[in-house]
Amino acid sequence: MTTEGRRIHPSGAMVLIVDDVPPLAEQYAYDIRRLGGFRTRAAHGGAEGLEILGREVVDCVILDLEMPGLDGFDVLRAMEHRSIDVPVIVYTGTGSFDRCVEAVRLGAFSFIDKAEPMERVVQEVRLALRQTDLRQRLGELERGAAESSPLIGESAAMIEVGAAIDRLADIPSAVLVLGESGTGKELVARELHRRSRRQGEAFVAVNCGGIAEGLVDSDLFGHDRGAFTGALKARRGAFERATSGTLFLDEIGELPGGVQARLLRVLEGGEIIRLGAEEPITVGARIVAATHRDLDAAAEAGDFREDLLHRINIHVIRVPPLRDRPRDIPLLAAHFASTLPARLGRSPRPVTEAALAELRARSWERNNVRELRNTIERMIIASDGPALDLPHLPQDLARPGPRAAASAASSAPPPPPADAPAPSYQEQKRAAERAIIVAALEANEWVISRTARSLGLSDHSSLIRIMNRLGVRRPGK
Ligand SMILES: Nc1ncnc2c1ncn2[C@@H]1O[C@H](COP(=O)(O)OP(=O)(O)OP(=O)(O)O)[C@@H](O)[C@H]1O
Ligand SMILES: [Mg+2]
Repeated sequence: MTTEGRRIHPSGAMVLIVDDVPPLAEQYAYDIRRLGGFRTRAAHGGAEGLEILGREVVDCVILDLEMPGLDGFDVLRAMEHRSIDVPVIVYTGTGSFDRCVEAVRLGAFSFIDKAEPMERVVQEVRLALRQTDLRQRLGELERGAAESSPLIGESAAMIEVGAAIDRLADIPSAVLVLGESGTGKELVARELHRRSRRQGEAFVAVNCGGIAEGLVDSDLFGHDRGAFTGALKARRGAFERATSGTLFLDEIGELPGGVQARLLRVLEGGEIIRLGAEEPITVGARIVAATHRDLDAAAEAGDFREDLLHRINIHVIRVPPLRDRPRDIPLLAAHFASTLPARLGRSPRPVTEAALAELRARSWERNNVRELRNTIERMIIASDGPALDLPHLPQDLARPGPRAAASAASSAPPPPPADAPAPSYQEQKRAAERAIIVAALEANEWVISRTARSLGLSDHSSLIRIMNRLGVRRPGK
């Protein structure tokens, strides 16, 4: 991939020229715009330059060292003091090399000579932008490294998910990733990015749930200084940070109503306007959204805009729950058993066949692959031996023993007569689930909240729902 001339900003980076001689500043601005395709601003002195830097998002500064009032050195020091992290290219009219070197010591990116051709200046700006961009990407890679494990699975369902990722990786339309909590939706989103031509660009994730409406708004769209009380500094939103990479909208089902309307306008218009700003910015990012919610139902209930739903659900990838692909459990368990120990300061050990059989028999209803990962982590901590084995399985994961299962059978439907057809998979699954629930209830003297806790359910109403679905009632009631 060629990165030469890569644009940091969908509609051109913003270059600020600070020079006390207005015609000079304007000339630089004009040439840089024309030759480099950048957006430009001119400031006619150090104070005005600093003021713009504090208020607007600027990607690169060209700074005259000799100015009356605040000179270039003062500006550099003030930038350092205020942690304004923007590359600065300095120049001096006196041709004094020493002064330029001093400026670089103060944090300037590089220096140019006023006599130099404009092409050279533009080249220098590109270099400065590229360095910022590389630094940002490195930071993103470092942050993403922990989550960049490959998507594991050999079940038919996961092979289909992999094929869908390949089919959709390079189209520009939005993709909606659906699945229960912990099934790997974010991993799928990252894979869509990794397998696309955008893989060298940014992957920016925004959690649309759990924060106040105003915050989601500026998180997504950014704001200018003073756009609202407390907006002391301009901030680039996720759309801008993603540039032409991938913008991952996690928990999109939780997006507040007002932001839904704004997001829809952005997706339709292909432009964003930062809060409090006027100039629109072209959106180049590819949208991947995820949710565990049923968005159709949410739209029907009036919680989610139907028109927004139609914008994002053109292509849907459904990540199946782990209980529907038990074939993946041994692979995932082995993967976690080999990758987690390094982080925990333990040595990797295999999972025994007996423990794997137990893990396969679990339903992982609550948190799917994340729950399996946490289970393996607990087994690694619990085991000192050469392998992760049955005794290391977390207690709250334990299956009902033979005694509990037998007593559970008493409230289960009677076994079919010997000549009846073998029960279907669904029937067996339901019977097994029923046995687990009844055994847990008996062990907890049918106290609903205690049983729910022992099963790791979020609250007693989840247990009541399951009991109703399976037709479980306290004997004699
Ligand atoms: N197929 C997989 N292969 C390897 N690791 C996986 C797989 N699926 C999920 N994981 C791991 O399980 C954990 C949960 O995955 P992820 O965060 O992608 O789930 P999610 O669906 O986004 O969950 P939530 O709905 O809670 O946000 C992560 O640590 C992820 O790396
Ligand atoms: Mg997630």
